[in-house]
Amino acid sequence: MIYITGDTHNIEDMSNLSSKNMKLCCMEQGVAFHDITAAIVLGDFGLPWSSDCEIDEAGIHPTDHTDRYLLKWYNQKPFNILAVMGNHDNYDVIERLPEVEMFGSKVLKVSDNVFYLKRGEIYTIEDKRFLVLGGAMSDDKAWRKPHESWWEQEEWSEAEKAACLEKIGQCASSFDYVLSHTGPSTGIALTDDFFSNEENLKQLLRDSNVVFNDKLDSLISYKKWLFGHWHSDWGYENYKESKYMPLYHQGILI
Ligand SMILES: [Fe+2]
Repeated sequence: MIYITGDTHNIEDMSNLSSKNMKLCCMEQGVAFHDITAAIVLGDFGLPWSSDCEIDEAGIHPTDHTDRYLLKWYNQKPFNILAVMGNHDNYDVIERLPEVEMFGSKVLKVSDNVFYLKRGEIYTIEDKRFLVLGGAMSDDKAWRKPHESWWEQEEWSEAEKAACLEKIGQCASSFDYVLSHTGPSTGIALTDDFFSNEENLKQLLRDSNVVFNDKLDSLISYKKWLFGHWHSDWGYENYKESKYMPLYHQGILI
């Protein structure tokens, strides 16, 4: 089984992946906790947060004690942890992580059981086909410090978008699941009544990631699109009815 949950923000929301929280979600969905082989975090994984860490073929070796503690905690988990890239993620380190083959493509290695999923990649995990996106524009970037608490790579480059579109053109464009950090605008609208107003909804298009997600949404077919960023568990409450699934603290088992 695969467990999918929302932003963990380094240690801030690490309880998303606590055994207690996960077991409650397993119980509600009638799944055995020990059947989980992978837990996916929908962006803002936030590990490492500090750039102060060595990187080699084994992954990261943080100097910062919070990052070191968190990595140790994750390394004790009996499943793989797979992170989608968000906006509060240290792209300077992510870009230097070693690539390893996994799920029919390449992932970026943080440690033996912790990996970042690459943007624009297609993965097959437990016989399910995933399109993985990621990123979001930080609304508060003016108050953040570049390379310390904000990274411009949070928005895709044109080359990344072109490579993703080419990949989708080559393969069949149907997927079981799409995973992203911010969502497509139709999905985001479900998280807050604020977006029921057409003008407010249009504001979302200031984020080039949302614009790209909307484009993909019109090009591909899929069963469910799961995303984080909006800190809403609307998707958990409406799992059966909706194909758009915003998640934060709750976890969906597939
Ligand atoms: Fe977040």
